[in-house]
Amino acid sequence: MSPFPEDIYTEQEASPDTLANLGPLRRLAGTWESRAGIDINPKPDGPQRREYSERIVLEPIDAQSNGPQLLYGLRYHTHILAPGEDATFHDQTGYWLWEPATGLVMQTLSIPRGQVALAAGHASADATELVLTAQRGQTEYGICSTAFLEYAFRTDSYRIEIVFNPDGSWSYVLDTVLRVRGREEPFVHRDRNTMVKVAEPGPNPLALARPRG
Ligand code: HEM
Repeated sequence: MSPFPEDIYTEQEASPDTLANLGPLRRLAGTWESRAGIDINPKPDGPQRREYSERIVLEPIDAQSNGPQLLYGLRYHTHILAPGEDATFHDQTGYWLWEPATGLVMQTLSIPRGQVALAAGHASADATELVLTAQRGQTEYGICSTAFLEYAFRTDSYRIEIVFNPDGSWSYVLDTVLRVRGREEPFVHRDRNTMVKVAEPGPNPLALARPRG
């Protein structure tokens, strides 16, 4: 039986204040930095381990409705540099989304090497940990890559685990499992970091237009 209603058009009433309705994503809102990232990436001679510095901006957007499905979320941009290098090491944009009615958490990610993914998981509003996954070949929570990446560096799965630390920072581990052409074993492209807040988030556009009180 489908978990979805017959009426696919009627929308729920949404709050204009996204920051008050983000559930577990509230703790991600703001601007974050760290110089202590570790990346394991595929190179011809084997895995390469690099340190990196990272800045992530996560700002609230106005509530979004897919008919009755009501989502609150954050738009993010991640920018990563390797020490001593000016060229971008990794760049990523997308949204973190929360559906209060079901506890569904989603992350969309878009990487400028021609790759997009939609990862999903479930959590409670006061969760201290989030786990989201996406699988290649899935039409719901999947991964889509360029024809070259499919040929040479096929991405079979993506998993992100976030832990909210008692001091207000949060840590992530990303596992992107690649099938690298010419290699028998899957390659686990792993990134991890702990992010420290450097600025609070601003209000979402509707909250700015209609201040409370
Ligand atoms: C903190 C996050 C990440 C960092 C710092 C990072 C960094 C890197 C680096 C340095 C390479 C090697 C690039 C080269 O040799 O030219 C690489 C390869 C790759 N990454 Fe990531 N990555 C991150 C996250 C991701 C994610 C989330 C995905 C996909 C969901 C992804 C997909 C790939 C793929 C498919 C390759 C192989 C393609 C290639 O080497 O040209 N990466 N990554």
